[in-house]
Amino acid sequence: MMERTPGRVLVIVPTYNERDSLPVITARVREAVPEAHLLIADDNSPDGTGEIADALAADDDHVHVLHRPGKKGLGAAYIAGFRWGMEQGYDVLVEMDADGSHQPEELPKLFDALADGADLAIGSRWVPGGKVVNWPTSREFLSRGANIYTRMALGVPVRDSTAGFRAYRAAALEKIGLDDVESQGYCFQVDLTMRTVRHGLRVAEVPITFVDRTVGASKMSRGIVAEALWRITVWGVTGLPRRFRRTR
Ligand code: GDD
Ligand code: MN
Repeated sequence: MMERTPGRVLVIVPTYNERDSLPVITARVREAVPEAHLLIADDNSPDGTGEIADALAADDDHVHVLHRPGKKGLGAAYIAGFRWGMEQGYDVLVEMDADGSHQPEELPKLFDALADGADLAIGSRWVPGGKVVNWPTSREFLSRGANIYTRMALGVPVRDSTAGFRAYRAAALEKIGLDDVESQGYCFQVDLTMRTVRHGLRVAEVPITFVDRTVGASKMSRGIVAEALWRITVWGVTGLPRRFRRTR
């Protein structure tokens, strides 16, 4: 079957200490969606991920590397990657983890949703058909809780607004504007979901299977959870007048 590609695609993969995962995920992306380009956004990983990325890029003109000076968080890495991709004229910017939790083979489903008119396609764990495999109960609890809290605090009608597997139209990111995004950690995902909804852009959730990593370690930390809780609460409170205007 012909693949429906919604223009030139850049898959951005942020990395921090992912030396064992990176070659595997790179090969899977290149195999699953051969037309797409890949940008590895590495925060000067002490384990040498950056050098591995350079070697992969030297071998393949579809693979690019953005070296960042130090660990500044997922949000900052993605913003730098989005900027790079938009300067290069890509039409679609994809977010994907390096550790194999997101299946490159499911990328065409995200592209289909864009082709069907979405501005943002979210690979969602928490819609019917979505699954998590091997995730510790504590993480599932945290993710479900965070999503319930986000829906209540922000009124955003999305089941998985913390998801890290998603495809944006470049035009949508331009409309949203990235200059005033302050979120550093994983709440960056919630931040951009909220901004997309508030700009009246179309969000589609596509069920995916999220598989816990088998090598390396998660970068989730107490600080990341605290930042998310704090920011989502502030956004919720400052956004209240807007919600009243809309519903009254
Ligand atoms: N460049 C850079 N800088 N990359 C980072 C940083 C950072 O500070 N922190 C994490 N990453 C990279 C990791 O190397 C990995 O490729 C990806 O971001 C996701 O990080 P993980 O540490 O594997 O995240 P997780 O599995 O705990 O969390 C997943 O669930 C979250 C909550 O739903 C991810 O899918 C997140 O995107 C999601 O928000
Ligand atoms: Mn992970």
